[in-house]
Amino acid sequence: MEINFKDEILKLKKERNAIILAHYYQRSDIQDIADAVGDSYYLSKIAKDCKEKVIVFCGVKFMAESAKILSPKKTVLLPVIDAGCPMADMADAEGVEELKKKHPNAKIVCYINSSAEVKAMSDVCCTSSNALKIIRNLEEEEIIFLPDKNLGSYIQEQIPEKKFILWNGFCITHKKVRPEELAKAKNLHPDILIAAHPECEKPVRDAADFIGSTGEIIKFVNKSSNKRFLIATEEGVLHQMKLNDPNKEFYIPGGGMSCINMKKTYLKDVYNCLLNMEYNIELKEELRQKAYNALSNMHKLGG
Ligand code: 13P
Ligand code: SF4
Repeated sequence: MEINFKDEILKLKKERNAIILAHYYQRSDIQDIADAVGDSYYLSKIAKDCKEKVIVFCGVKFMAESAKILSPKKTVLLPVIDAGCPMADMADAEGVEELKKKHPNAKIVCYINSSAEVKAMSDVCCTSSNALKIIRNLEEEEIIFLPDKNLGSYIQEQIPEKKFILWNGFCITHKKVRPEELAKAKNLHPDILIAAHPECEKPVRDAADFIGSTGEIIKFVNKSSNKRFLIATEEGVLHQMKLNDPNKEFYIPGGGMSCINMKKTYLKDVYNCLLNMEYNIELKEELRQKAYNALSNMHKLGG
């Protein structure tokens, strides 16, 4: 007999006292069964404050790890164990240590897309929706920003009075966007509005009408009275946009932008995750506490 994954997930979720969180880059059917769908910051707030005993994080590893760092008493499950983030893997604790020695007066700001080890070495964490606010409010003039050089340089452009030391990391999905595609879309539809994620490279950001996190892009599109939009971020965001505004038209550069890691999670994985209570995120307490400081500073400064 075929399993109705949706029904079984809802049953198991109640039995386990679990909440299902899904990032906007997840598949549409995963977003539809989730209790909360959002950007990285919103989901980390829910993970921090929710009452349920179990968090099923439909996203990538650093997201589930951040939930565990913020809520150590809860069981945090990642449905697909190898759903990682190549950008997060580009930074390591040893490299941060070296930079710290070279720039002893700098504050270390890490993007939430980073490992627990890197967070443990950092002063404060940020997401694309609060990075500007957090860095603006830091007293220090020197900022080590990692791992995303694109988000880092986007913030740097807006706070020219601070000195930024940028790590050489990037998102392989956003790197694929070519500015020519944006120009082509504008030529074809002069009324089109371009919204881009700050993980895009500078020429792409410069051609955009709006830059923001996934949640901010979705809000921008929903509030705008424009009809056509080119969305320069992972195509999963289109699901909420189409639900919000079925009569608007959405285009993606190159015809598609998909993060293979975000797309690894299927309904059957969420079902197996709740059935077998796997994969359980565990961290050494000493490491968790160090990483907690950076994340809790993000919630203090970025809220
Ligand atoms: P946000 O949801 O914070 O915009 O993050 C985008 C992202 O790349 C997550 O991996
Ligand atoms: Fe990492 Fe980019 Fe995928 Fe986000 S979209 S999880 S930054 S590879």
